[in-house]
Amino acid sequence: MRVVDLRSDTVTLPTEEMLEAIRTAELGDDVYGEDPTVNRLEELAAKKMGKEAALLTTSGTQANLVSVLSQTKLGDEVILEADAHLYYYESGAFSTLGSLIPRLVRGHLGVMTPQDIEAALRPPDIHIPPTSLICIENSHNRAGGTVWSPSQIKDVFDFAKGHGLSVHMDGARVFNAAVAQNLDVRDFTRYVDTLMFCLSKGLSAPVGSLAVGDREFIDRARRYRKMLGGGMRQAGVIAAPGIIAIEKMVDRLKDDHANAKMLAKGLTKIEGISLDPSHVQTNIVLYDVAGLGVSGEEWVAKINEFGVKAGAQEAGRVRMVTHRGIEKEDIEYTLSVAEKVAKQVSKKGHPDIL
Ligand SMILES: Cc1ncc(COP(=O)(O)O)c(C=O)c1O
Repeated sequence: MRVVDLRSDTVTLPTEEMLEAIRTAELGDDVYGEDPTVNRLEELAAKKMGKEAALLTTSGTQANLVSVLSQTKLGDEVILEADAHLYYYESGAFSTLGSLIPRLVRGHLGVMTPQDIEAALRPPDIHIPPTSLICIENSHNRAGGTVWSPSQIKDVFDFAKGHGLSVHMDGARVFNAAVAQNLDVRDFTRYVDTLMFCLSKGLSAPVGSLAVGDREFIDRARRYRKMLGGGMRQAGVIAAPGIIAIEKMVDRLKDDHANAKMLAKGLTKIEGISLDPSHVQTNIVLYDVAGLGVSGEEWVAKINEFGVKAGAQEAGRVRMVTHRGIEKEDIEYTLSVAEKVAKQVSKKGHPDIL
């Protein structure tokens, strides 16, 4: 049976060139700073992002965590969008390990304005934990891969600087944001103090993310990474495909975006499925199947019977993510399965019209 795995862009496998780069990578002990391939990747990442330095981490979660810990003190409050990955899907790491308190701000499609943040920002007071950091997410996963534009980022950055706060960007998919807006990624990183991005999502590398910022920040982050058990030895085997990911895999993200738009357009034509195609800005398609009288889990189980894999979220929400393993024909197949299953389940819900 044909399998179309739309659960996440993390399922992408390394290219042949990446596998060959792993085999031939020049290696050393990175905890001593002696892995030349890691050093090359970190320099490349810093340069790409227009910052001083970068640090290879085991995962996006670890890169976010060391970034947040490096810019806060025990007991600080951190401002996050209500659906932030950092808050929602990272096992409460920064609260557990950093004793930090999340202050959630509901944005629009994942984007917060200075006014939204101002309403949540509390004045210095002995009763209130001090705020030190604002975290933004670009593209925003739970909002459906929506993009913060450079000017929206600058607005929040200017506000933060006016209040003595730092800004960290969870840029797990920041290259998707840049490609979607046809801009250089530096346009998105100029107005943040620090960011992280993932090599192992749409860029197809098997492992790894990078925290990026100024040298002092990276020195602190490196210490936290060690504390978390993320000091790796011959990590050049991770860095080598990472270099290819950054140098060769960015431009093709536009194909994933085109496929996501095609998928969204097709899904809107199916009665009972609701989604707003204008929200599909990158490679994530979020839609609602509640109109078909099924839960997200039921829908996902049904389409899985035909080899189409997706992610169920709360209520009737379903997520599909396009990536390098998905071709136009896979989208066509997915739409034909969705149409068939929609007919099946809506008939079940209305036996009197059979
Ligand atoms: C927006 C965002 N941030 C962070 C992460 C965490 O990355 P990892 O799975 O590598 O820990 C993800 C993973 O899906 C993500 O989507």
